Amino acid sequence: MPSVSSKRRFRSHASPTPAAASPPSRKSPRHCIAATPNSVPPVARRIITDENQIESCETVAVKSKWNPKDGEQLRSVKEVLHLSTAPSTIVCRKEEQDVVLGFCKGSVEHEKAGSLYICGCPGTGKSLSMVKVKVNLLNWATEAGLPLPDVLSVNCTSLSNTSDIFAKILGLHKTLGKKASGTPLQQLQNMYSHKSCTKSMILIVADELDYLITKDRAVLHDLFMLTTFPFSRCILIGVANAIDLADRFLPRLTALNCKPTVVTFRAYTKDQILKILKERLNELPYTVFQHQALELCARKVAAASGDMRNALSICRSAIEMLEAEIRDSASNLNALEEKSSSEQNLPTALEVVNKQELDMVRIDHMALALSKTYRSPVVDTIQSLPHHQQIILCSTMKHFRGAKKDSILGELYKSYAAICKSSLIPPAGIMEFSNMCRVLNDQGLIKLGQSRDDKLRRVTPKVDEGDITFALQGIRFFRNCLQ
Ligand SMILES: Nc1ncnc2c1ncn2[C@@H]1O[C@H](COP(=O)(O)OP(=O)(O)O)[C@@H](O)[C@H]1O
Ligand SMILES: [Mg+2]
Repeated sequence: MPSVSSKRRFRSHASPTPAAASPPSRKSPRHCIAATPNSVPPVARRIITDENQIESCETVAVKSKWNPKDGEQLRSVKEVLHLSTAPSTIVCRKEEQDVVLGFCKGSVEHEKAGSLYICGCPGTGKSLSMVKVKVNLLNWATEAGLPLPDVLSVNCTSLSNTSDIFAKILGLHKTLGKKASGTPLQQLQNMYSHKSCTKSMILIVADELDYLITKDRAVLHDLFMLTTFPFSRCILIGVANAIDLADRFLPRLTALNCKPTVVTFRAYTKDQILKILKERLNELPYTVFQHQALELCARKVAAASGDMRNALSICRSAIEMLEAEIRDSASNLNALEEKSSSEQNLPTALEVVNKQELDMVRIDHMALALSKTYRSPVVDTIQSLPHHQQIILCSTMKHFRGAKKDSILGELYKSYAAICKSSLIPPAGIMEFSNMCRVLNDQGLIKLGQSRDDKLRRVTPKVDEGDITFALQGIRFFRNCLQ
């Protein structure tokens, strides 16, 4: 797992890869697209029927591929995937947002103070959702002709003193004309104990609440308790990253008769991560990633943490892998041009470069980007295998692509031999091949069935295609085999 620092520019945590370190200089991805001279007009339309269906964000028109050598396009793509770029639509969080919005609406409508406690692992869209809820609440109150609540958004990590939060809340009560005595907390407690002329409700969104509990739990209790005073005007939404925070501080609040409603943001699943990535990329008029590359990213991130920030950073990092490849091929271009003009049988340099799909972020770029962030024991095992056993695994992966669930050893041998021949490597004989398969079986990388004739033994793959790609992508020999 990457180490994450607790402060970042806009939201809770820093990106695990260096990709997110350089903020984009432009403001709107749509603006960038329009301004790109070589870009094609948007041809993608979206059919969003049901937010929970993955298919809903698929494009219905085929987009053209992008041109990663176009600086403007490159910037637009990176910006769409940047952590600080708010997506135009937030998918996969409708239910949670509805609960929070419903709670806020009830409080505003009935002028009733109350508290909500939101928790979930980092990168699960809590902060993003709160921004949306605030906007929706204010729109709703305006349309309903209700008095608008004053809004205070605090990131608790930005408080130099935890109790500063009370001064901020106090600051919102504009009607407080006369000088009152006591600390800001005492003043608030006093104000909320008596019927006062303070009319408007205040919505407090306290993000990164974890900071308060680690620093000063009393502040946290006092904050939530403010909503229980008879004339309190506070609608408090506390947002925390630690999921066990509730266990540590809720019992005390319950004992004090102030148990906030808890809304949990669960880690994103693979399908949700894929859907969010596609939705964000749909803002672009061109296709940047191979579908399999996005899927690999979503699967790995979901299995590790479900942290959307990691998914975004890894995608940006994968783009940098493609950039590096383009740079490499450009530097080889001149050498190739010289060679091909002197030797007539060689393909032209341009033909060679064109063959290598340099206009898409492929699965091997993604695997490389992922390897910078995550490693797994299976990947380590595959990487330490002898070369021919790696080729067998690679051929297993190719052999079982599609619907095939199992095969027999004799068939797998043919795939293996074909890879060897295409790479001009002499294949092992069937006996040796069979022995190597036995070793892979013992390592749990494939499963061999029983049969008197070795060639008829059933073979079933036991490792994920992504793990194999992931492990072998760095080895030059496998570059073409993994496609
Ligand atoms: N449902 C979503 N749709 C689009 N982007 C998302 C979604 N959820 C999270 N993100 C992106 O992931 C990053 C982290 O989200 P954030 O709301 O800050 O997480 P949290 O507050 O739970 O740590 C942000 O850059 C945000 O743009
Ligand atoms: Mg957050």
